[in-house]
Amino acid sequence: MNNLSKIAVGLDTRSYEILVQNGILNNVWEFISPFLKNGKLHIISDTNAFKLHGEKLLSSIKSNNVKYNIIEIESGEKSKSFASFENVIESLLSTGAERGDLIIAFGGGVTGDLSGFVAGVVNRGIDFIQIPTTLLSQVDSSVGGKTAINAKAGKNLVGLFWQPRAVLIDPLVLETLPKRDLMAGFAEIFKIGLINDAQFFDYCDKNYAKILGENSTSRRFAIETAIKAKANIVAQDEREGGIRALLNLGHTFAHAIEAGVNYNEQIWRHGEAVSCGIVMAANFSHQLGLLDEKSAKRIENFIQNCGYRTKLDDNGFNANDMLETMRHDKKNSGGQINLILLKNIGQAFIYKNAPIDKLKIFLESECAKAA
Ligand code: GLY
Repeated sequence: MNNLSKIAVGLDTRSYEILVQNGILNNVWEFISPFLKNGKLHIISDTNAFKLHGEKLLSSIKSNNVKYNIIEIESGEKSKSFASFENVIESLLSTGAERGDLIIAFGGGVTGDLSGFVAGVVNRGIDFIQIPTTLLSQVDSSVGGKTAINAKAGKNLVGLFWQPRAVLIDPLVLETLPKRDLMAGFAEIFKIGLINDAQFFDYCDKNYAKILGENSTSRRFAIETAIKAKANIVAQDEREGGIRALLNLGHTFAHAIEAGVNYNEQIWRHGEAVSCGIVMAANFSHQLGLLDEKSAKRIENFIQNCGYRTKLDDNGFNANDMLETMRHDKKNSGGQINLILLKNIGQAFIYKNAPIDKLKIFLESECAKAA
């Protein structure tokens, strides 16, 4: 299980590898040094990740006499703001950051999204490497070059596609991750099975306890399968003109849930909202006559068995607000709502111009069932 896996993201001149290995954190120098020209290293990290794993990262770097500095950001979604974007940019520039330097994004999805955006614009673009430390960021946000901060109008509305030069994934860092965060990440794993790999969904269904339970071969297999699938989709559609939108299965409903609690991650983690959003997408697909009842039920049972909420809770959700959030989704065009729905397990598709009246009735019944 300690072999090094290399997963390629084929994007012409922006191609890169995702390297997965237990303990790769002890040996980062070998993998980052090829990308360090004559410049300095800037490590952007969130306080949690740095406290837990910073020493390991630094021990490999320090022994190589390279100039480096560390910019710490607060853990949590509030760091994806204009204010922290400005702070990080100013800190970088105050150290004399140059275009030949290398930025390391070391932390969870917030760190990766913010650091990638900073890397993409400072000095009109500096190379960066992602070293994600949560399951969600390892299998989803660190792969594919989406970077962003949040705006008043919504999450992830300000950013750019800026691909990393490499992604280093150490499954061992997940040993310090709370179970709740592991589960939030697992949502982005089993989602892949539902999108285009029914066999992998079967695997997740049979092995979820092992994947969530410990650092096992099942977990490693699940991580690598999800990354390979995402790398393959990104290589076909880097800027989400088509097939990449499938990765948003459950996300439009999820954003409506998250917005309903003001993106309070203590109440609904993103991955938890995605799981519940996938149940909604499956049930709405069934209501529209697109997905058979048995498959919709199987998806709901699986998600419930894993331990996720499959229904809205008593946080005052209402259908009109949810619909309003869904109208502002980035996948929409021309005022229509586009949803990712299911024809089968392993067969997601983009459903353009979803019927608003039916969606409203569906949301009303979901809100009425809230417990
Ligand atoms: N998280 C979905 C994507 O990267 O496209």
